[in-house]
Amino acid sequence: MRVTRVPTRKALETLPPYVPGARVPVGAAAFKLSSNENPFPPLPSVMAAIADAAVDVNRYPDMYATELVEAVAAHLAVQPDEVVMGGGSVAVLGHVLATVCEPGAEVVMPWRSFEAYPIYVTVAGATGVRVPMTDDGRLDLPAMAAAVTKRTRVVLVCTPNNPTGPAVRADELESFLSALPGDVLVVLDEAYVEFVADPAAADGLATFANHPNVVLLRTFSKAYGLAGLRVGYAVARPRLAAAIRAVSTPFGVSNVAQLAAVASLRAQREMAERVARLVDERGRMLDGLRSQGWAVPDSQANFVWLGIGENATKLAERCTRAGVLVRPFAGDGVRVSVGEREATDLLLEVTAESLDLAAR
Ligand SMILES: Cc1ncc(COP(=O)(O)O)c(C=O)c1O
Repeated sequence: MRVTRVPTRKALETLPPYVPGARVPVGAAAFKLSSNENPFPPLPSVMAAIADAAVDVNRYPDMYATELVEAVAAHLAVQPDEVVMGGGSVAVLGHVLATVCEPGAEVVMPWRSFEAYPIYVTVAGATGVRVPMTDDGRLDLPAMAAAVTKRTRVVLVCTPNNPTGPAVRADELESFLSALPGDVLVVLDEAYVEFVADPAAADGLATFANHPNVVLLRTFSKAYGLAGLRVGYAVARPRLAAAIRAVSTPFGVSNVAQLAAVASLRAQREMAERVARLVDERGRMLDGLRSQGWAVPDSQANFVWLGIGENATKLAERCTRAGVLVRPFAGDGVRVSVGEREATDLLLEVTAESLDLAAR
């Protein structure tokens, strides 16, 4: 009796799959540049916190992650009642959408952007309105503002944008926000904010301070290297933060993740050094690709984008054969995460031989 007659929600029929980045097969030697992860292993102080936390796994964690919330609030100079933790910022995004989307709500989003957006918007019972990027892989904020209607409850602003790389500039974000009604929630997804080096890029925290309809999403998965532990957060006005907390999964952040994140915040200097090394490596990857003749948008994140359309899958296959796993988006482009130096060297060997795939 494997067949069930229980219906599932109609809306799920259109749900796009979340395609995870390729994993290194057991026993194979390859570099994994397919999931925008941090290539560095946890710092010794973070490992020690994880080991210490392990002795308590028979207990539920602190439901509100109090120590971590206080540490994040102090780090960002916001109030603890403005911070809401969750099992990765992707879970927090789901909670934010569940907080504000009534049935029939519209959510405006850039596209192509983070592939979880259409999934979470549909699951929240809302309708996604996709606004194409500009040709150089930037968010088209004027077009996004023009897509806002009376039904729009949320606008998703991914900066830097996954998978294309550019960050939204401060001036364009200000004009965008001034064009929007104050009751439309603007989610600034800053998963990669620590890698931003462009001084013209928008300052999320300053924007949050000046605009009560802005919520920030941040994560410990990328710069802090805790992707496997699942911890991220929202920064929102207290009333909104309380509502997000109310719909969050109870005990959604493990004690291990909470203590590892606190230890990571304490290791600011080492973390910043690692980020600086990855930003340098990003520069080397961008320069290498451009000098070979590839058109690559500016990247302010820990990945670069090759918008090669139909050739995406072919290039990804060639990279895999050479021992570098990258992330193809079929028909659109290839995203390559910044990792080890040797991985960049290998990638550049493949791309040097693949200029036949460079044109769309
Ligand atoms: C733009 C963006 N937001 C959010 C996330 C989710 O990160 P996490 O759930 O690990 O915090 C990702 C992960 O790839 C991302 O690219």
